[in-house]
Amino acid sequence: MCGIVGYIGNENACDIIIDGLKKLEYRGYDSAGIALYKEGKIQVRKYKGRIANLEEHLKNEVFDSHVGIGHTRWATHGAPSDENAHPHTNGDSTIAIVHNGIIENFVKLREWLETEHQVTFRSETDSEVIAHLIGLYYEGDLLEAVYKATEKMEGAYAIGAIAAAEPDRIVAVRKDSPLVVGLGEDCNFIASDIPALLKHVRKIYLIENNETVLLTKDQVKIFDQNRKEVKREVFHVTWDADAAEKEGYDHFMLKEIHEQPKGIYETLTRRLDESGKIALDGISLSKEDLDRIDKVYIVACGTAYHAGLVGKYAIEKFAHIPVEVDIASEFRYRDPFVNDRTLFIAVSQSGETLDTLAALREAKKKGARILSVVNVVGSSVARESDDVFYTWAGPEIAVASTKAYTTQLVCMYLIALYMAQLKGVIAQEEYRRILEELKAVPDKLREFLKKEKSIEELAKKQYKRESAFFIGRGADVGISYEGSLKLKEVSYINSFAIAAGELKHGTIALIEQDTLVVALATQDQLYDKMLSNIQEVKARGAYVIGIAKASNREIEKQANDVIYIPDCADEVAPLLAVVPLQLLAYYIAKLRGCDIDKPKNLAKSVTVE
Ligand code: AGP
Repeated sequence: MCGIVGYIGNENACDIIIDGLKKLEYRGYDSAGIALYKEGKIQVRKYKGRIANLEEHLKNEVFDSHVGIGHTRWATHGAPSDENAHPHTNGDSTIAIVHNGIIENFVKLREWLETEHQVTFRSETDSEVIAHLIGLYYEGDLLEAVYKATEKMEGAYAIGAIAAAEPDRIVAVRKDSPLVVGLGEDCNFIASDIPALLKHVRKIYLIENNETVLLTKDQVKIFDQNRKEVKREVFHVTWDADAAEKEGYDHFMLKEIHEQPKGIYETLTRRLDESGKIALDGISLSKEDLDRIDKVYIVACGTAYHAGLVGKYAIEKFAHIPVEVDIASEFRYRDPFVNDRTLFIAVSQSGETLDTLAALREAKKKGARILSVVNVVGSSVARESDDVFYTWAGPEIAVASTKAYTTQLVCMYLIALYMAQLKGVIAQEEYRRILEELKAVPDKLREFLKKEKSIEELAKKQYKRESAFFIGRGADVGISYEGSLKLKEVSYINSFAIAAGELKHGTIALIEQDTLVVALATQDQLYDKMLSNIQEVKARGAYVIGIAKASNREIEKQANDVIYIPDCADEVAPLLAVVPLQLLAYYIAKLRGCDIDKPKNLAKSVTVE
């Protein structure tokens, strides 16, 4: 997510804004910039790279400005670069803006501004459109110009804007992306997030959707979408800075588990056109290209590999193309059978995992078409791919991957449906049914997350375990692997996942009195088989936690505990089934006093062999 900070007051705006941006670094970013009013002009300094790089460039300049806006960018449109960094300005730099969010109709607006108003764009971003729109409507009143500009815009945005002709004010507006206002003595602030302001203020206005804010150094006015001034309760922040970065959650992992409905929504809906059909930006795979593909490899590591296991089911079921899923560290050394009829899909949250990058290069060398599913825009895996399909999970801070994983699953489904549609092998009814099921997941997940405390209660019964087994069938096998990895990673409990049907071929020898077995039974057509597997391990004394759809109550007769997920189609059940396992791992680890966000021996991105 991008970070926004704005200041207007009597102090040095540059220092205050830079310091505030540093408090937002935890959100992840790839470039940083600042716009300051000075002697009738707006000065902009913005660079790819860390805030320290921006400071390096600023150190030889003295900015005794008292009003400004700053930004840390998490790229969504346009790779990290100086030009794509914020703030953005209109043509004559009399307006500067910073933006967090995605302007969904920016392509149309950009074309309109270029053709109807001869605007020249300097970046590839959607955000730059905002600066030109405000500049177009500006007639001496920044608030009015922002109103008019936002009337043209669709999508999500938190915007801060300043005008050279009005150095005594900042205007901000919020729609879907977070925005807060800090209330100081003879000074006021805007920010994307409370941590940026905690050093200076504890009194905050939480800005609501479709509200516009006018700040001077001694006054803040909030207006609703009818331009009517609204009164707002002051929110008194009691958190410390560290807690504020987690927005009140105890750990980034828990915060990111709760961010999944939003991540799934954003990754999904922004790839559906007005008619609801899949429109994959950045994917140039044509029907001719696809007709030449006779095999798909999905190659990744860890959690990303587990996403590939679900992707296999989706692509084979919908697109009827054989898929092989492989871990990158093996793929790259076994001289894989790859040629120019192979589609190689690399999945990677960081886009910097060396094993995955090396496997991608190996496949490329052999002539494969490279498509990557990546969360970090402009990362190495993204840059070396023919096509990139970004997950829009936002920066994932916890080492244990959660929201990146579920958004990777969404990408797998979209790629599978997109290919099926291109090949003409899916009935329109089936295509729409699955899309409707996917669109229903965010709300179902929000509903499910309200049951979080019941899973914490389950964890209290299990956290002293020394081992655990995860079993499942069909698409639940991949979820079993992922649930097992989550538990291992954050609680250090020795956990093992296996296809349920494989238990009897040896592993069941390990099941004894009170062995914990987590049984996933979300696939309707394999439900009865799973009930048999539960009986099989119960007969040997296992303690079973079942995961099943809400309407499948039979499992209660077999399992010791059951976690129900909302009813849904088998195909999309993995998106819901993994969340109870994430929460179970989290609460068990918390009860064991583990370092959840930074587990021992682990790194967020494994850039070594
Ligand atoms: C997942 O929780 C782990 N942090 C780890 O397995 C991770 O998924 C793996 O290292 C791959 O990372 P990537 O997605 O950034 O390539």
